[in-house]
Amino acid sequence: MTTADLDAVLAIEQAVQHYPWTRGNFCDALNSGYLCCVEEAAGEPGAYAVLMPGVDEAELLNIGVAAAHQRKGMGGAILSAMLEVASARQMPRVFLEVRASNLAAIALYRRAGFLEIGVRRDYYRDANGSEDALVMACDTKSSGTRLTGEING
Ligand SMILES: CC(C)(COP(=O)(O)OP(=O)(O)OC[C@H]1O[C@@H](n2cnc3c(N)ncnc32)[C@H](O)[C@@H]1OP(=O)(O)O)[C@@H](O)C(=O)NCCC(=O)NCCS
Repeated sequence: MTTADLDAVLAIEQAVQHYPWTRGNFCDALNSGYLCCVEEAAGEPGAYAVLMPGVDEAELLNIGVAAAHQRKGMGGAILSAMLEVASARQMPRVFLEVRASNLAAIALYRRAGFLEIGVRRDYYRDANGSEDALVMACDTKSSGTRLTGEING
């Protein structure tokens, strides 16, 4: 992902996320050296993911797939790519937090090898109330994931 992708990425983000990142959030991620990837579909960004590397673990901060391309394997492909990069960079575990109600994302993560390791009660708070976050983790060495699409880092 580069700044040239941000208009398209933001359009997807605003369409598919309940609480979308801002352009500033994506710029901060790029400027911080986080791993920000896009996967193209028909010459346009169709999916993206942001991974924050740590010393020996990483956190998946964001992932999204354009509505028109969902359930076609793009989310799984870009997630697999992130896990492979984390493994290659000697980060044996990847963590993430996900809203307890986000059943699609939870199913995606489970299928990729993530396990639930905790719950943060009322972690997400807004004017409408609060919601738990599931904390999930994946051992990148044994996730069994394979890169199935071409990923533009
Ligand atoms: C979650 C998301 C990234 C999944 O992307 P995707 O490209 O549709 O996922 P895939 O096609 O690779 O699906 C892989 C597997 O995940 C699971 N899955 C994905 N979407 C699902 C859904 N809506 N319901 C149930 N399971 C789902 C299934 O097991 C699926 O395999 P299958 O299609 O063979 O049954 C996508 O729905 C999305 O962008 N959602 C909005 C943003 C979001 O919630 N991001 C995560 C929190 S930051």
